[in-house]
Amino acid sequence: MKTDLKIAGDYLDLIVMHPASPEDVPRGEYFYEWDGTEEYSSRKFACSVEKQPDRDFVILNFADIQCHDGEAFCHVGEFSEETMDKLIRRTKPDLITLTGDNAFDPFAYLRLIDFLERYSVPWAPVMGNADHTGLVSEFWADYRMSHAKHCLFRCGPKGMGDGNYIINITENGRPVHTLFMMDSHHEETQQKGSYDHFTSEQLRWYEWAVKGIAAENGAPVPSSVYMHIPVPEYRDAWESIHDRETGNLIPEFASAPFCKVHESYGFPLFNNGFFALCKKLGSTKNMLCGHDHKNCFSIPYEGITLTYAMKTGYGCYWERETNGGTTLTVRSDGSTVTEHHYIDPEESSVKMFMLEYYGKNLYNRNYGD
Ligand SMILES: [Fe+2]
Repeated sequence: MKTDLKIAGDYLDLIVMHPASPEDVPRGEYFYEWDGTEEYSSRKFACSVEKQPDRDFVILNFADIQCHDGEAFCHVGEFSEETMDKLIRRTKPDLITLTGDNAFDPFAYLRLIDFLERYSVPWAPVMGNADHTGLVSEFWADYRMSHAKHCLFRCGPKGMGDGNYIINITENGRPVHTLFMMDSHHEETQQKGSYDHFTSEQLRWYEWAVKGIAAENGAPVPSSVYMHIPVPEYRDAWESIHDRETGNLIPEFASAPFCKVHESYGFPLFNNGFFALCKKLGSTKNMLCGHDHKNCFSIPYEGITLTYAMKTGYGCYWERETNGGTTLTVRSDGSTVTEHHYIDPEESSVKMFMLEYYGKNLYNRNYGD
């Protein structure tokens, strides 16, 4: 019996954990060769989502959902899904994005993919530093997502991590705004205690694409960068909205909801120059990241709005005052508006969550009488 169970377990692992690498997929082409010499072509290197001319295009972001297998199938996952469902119903997105740390473990990943697919809305994730946790490899998640019907995820160029890809939001077939979905990797192995960020090759690829899109379009196209780990300029932006003498938030932001830094920044201990490059090229108007679950803001800084997306659900750790999602709304002229959307946990109908978290027993019929 014990042997049978072991064989069954091994067999299940084999199915669930496959494929571990691109070599496990005969004829599969997931990463492409890139050295910057080939001319950019949106047809070849980007996908597109069409915007209706008479209305704004809404992109809804979920940040750091990250449930383990054991959580995804109990009240923790149920609460995350309830939060996402409320956000989708409220904002009616044309596109859903995920700023990484999407799930720990394989079954949590499969459940998340299945959940998002139900809405028949295109969705586009980037990878977070924790997205390989509990998986046979990060490629396993790449494979599963890139084969989901409504998922736009693509592995991207070889040697730059998992998931560097381009989405053009088009109106009447012409791009009005571009999304750069980029992998900011995991922990940095060269500098102890530092997170990683984009490599110099990724910066080259980004510059090549920004210039290529502008050349193809006959004019620059505004863009936004979705990534998991922030750049160091997030701290400068936060400092820029404080009164130098009092140290308090300036009035414009003191009254802004969901504007906070409640944990130390998880950006790398080095500056790869990405923010400076974006400023120089002039295309990118927004950066959105996740990673630091207790930080939440949206600050225009030196021509680029830096946004910490709102944490979605209470997987891993959270603050209940900022549970929800973040929208980036794109207008026909390519300009954007960023907004955080709070989902009050106390209004949850997940019984076990309410009992465990607020001591409210929704199992008791007389509750609320
Ligand atoms: Fe996270």
